[in-house]
Amino acid sequence: MDHFQYKAEELYCEDVPVRLVAEKVGTPCYIYSLATLRHHFLTFDSAFAKARHLTCYSVKANSNIAILKLFGSMGGGVDIVSGGELYRALKANIPSERIVYSGVGKTVEEIDFALREKILMFNIESTQELEQINRRAEAMNTTASVSLRVNPDIDPNTHPYISTGMKKNKFGISTDSALQAFEDAKNLKHINLVGLDCHIGSQLTEVTPFVDALKRLRSLVETLRLRGADISYLDLGGGLGIVYDQEAPPQPHEYARALLQELGDIDCTLIFEPGRVIVGNAGILVTRVLYTKRTKAKNFVITDGAMNDLIRPSLYGSFHGVQPVARNLKETETVDIVGPICESGDFLARDRDLPLSTQGDYLAVMSAGAYGFTMSSNYNSRPRAPEVLVSGDKYFVIRKRETWEDLVRPESIPDFLGGN
Ligand code: LLP
Repeated sequence: MDHFQYKAEELYCEDVPVRLVAEKVGTPCYIYSLATLRHHFLTFDSAFAKARHLTCYSVKANSNIAILKLFGSMGGGVDIVSGGELYRALKANIPSERIVYSGVGKTVEEIDFALREKILMFNIESTQELEQINRRAEAMNTTASVSLRVNPDIDPNTHPYISTGMKKNKFGISTDSALQAFEDAKNLKHINLVGLDCHIGSQLTEVTPFVDALKRLRSLVETLRLRGADISYLDLGGGLGIVYDQEAPPQPHEYARALLQELGDIDCTLIFEPGRVIVGNAGILVTRVLYTKRTKAKNFVITDGAMNDLIRPSLYGSFHGVQPVARNLKETETVDIVGPICESGDFLARDRDLPLSTQGDYLAVMSAGAYGFTMSSNYNSRPRAPEVLVSGDKYFVIRKRETWEDLVRPESIPDFLGGN
C-alpha cells in the first residue's frame, strides 16, 4: 500500500500534486511519502509484536537523516555498514543501544568510532575482524559486544549481485568455521559474543530461503549453547522483497509467521534489518521529458533523470514502473526512457509502452525509495537530485539539489598549475 495515486488524472503524493513539487524544486527530484514510510515501518514491526525484537532499519536503503529520525521516533534502531552511516544515525538521534554494525571491511577508525559510541553490537564477518575489534576494544579499555555473521550457504533466488548468503559470497563466516570462531572469541578478553546473525540477500520474493537459513542458525545456536555460549540475540538480517512489476513477495505478516514458527521457543531477542520493504515503494523519482527522438530501430524519450540519479536499471537490469504525472488518453508508443549521460547503458526503462510524451511532460519513476538516492552519483558532473518529504498537503525539502559549486568544492588546483 502506498500513497501515490491519481486524482482526476493527476498523480498525487498524499495530498500534494507531484507536478507542484516538480515545478517548485525542479527535476529530477525524489519524493517520499511520510504516511507510506510510517505505514510500512509499522506493518513490519508489528508483524513481530509477539516476539521480543528490535527492527533495525537498514540505513543503506535510504539514509536521509529526516527518514532515520522518523524511524527512530517510532522505536526503530538501525543497521549500519560504515562510519558515515553511524554519523548519520547519531545525527538523527538513534540511541546507540539500537545500532548494529555489519560489513566485511570495517576500518580501525570506524571500529573506534562505534566503540566510543557504545553501539549495541558488531556483526563480525571474519576471524581477523574479530581480532581487530578485540585489539581496539583493549586499547580503549572497553568490551565489544558481537554477533557472528554466519554464511548459511542458501540460494536466495535473487539477482547474483545482491545474493549474500552463498558460500561463494564474501559475507559472513561459514557454519563450520563458526564453532572455531566461537572458541577464538572465548579467548579474547575484550569480546563479548552475544549473538548470531545472517543476511542472505535482497529482494527475496519467497519465504523458503529465509526459513532454510533460520534452520541452520537455530541449530548453531543450540550447539553453541551446549558449549556454554550465552547467545541472547538472533539477527535475521533484511531482504524481504517488494512489488516492482509482477512479483508476489510474502507480506510482512506471512514472513513473520513463517519465521516465528521455525523459531519455536528459542529464547533470544530477534533483530531484523529491513531496508527495501520499508522505503522502496514510499518514494518516486520525478523527471522531465527534454526531447523525444524517433529512429528506425527505437523511439527514445530523453529525460533529465539519468543513471547517475537511479542506477538500478543499468546495474541490475531492474524494472521500475514509469507513469506520466498527468495522465491523459493519448495513444501509447513503445519507448526507451533514457538520460543525458554519455553511455548506452544510461536508461531508466526499455521497451516500455507509454502515452505519447511531449517536451516538458513529467514522468514518475516508481518504487525508487530504496537504493535510489543512496546509490546516486555525480557522474558526468551532474549535481545530485533533491529529496522531498510529503506529509498530507505539505512538502518539505529534506535535501537540497547540489549545485555546480558543490561539485568542485573539495577540489583544488596545485600552485604549479596556477592555484585556485
Ligand atoms: N542487512 C545487511 C547486512 C545488508 O547487507 C542489507 C542489504 C540489508 C540488511 C537490507 O536489505 P533489504 O531489506 O533492503 O533487502 N543495491 C541493491 C540492494 C543491495 C542490498 C545490500 N544489502 C538494489 O538496489 O537492489
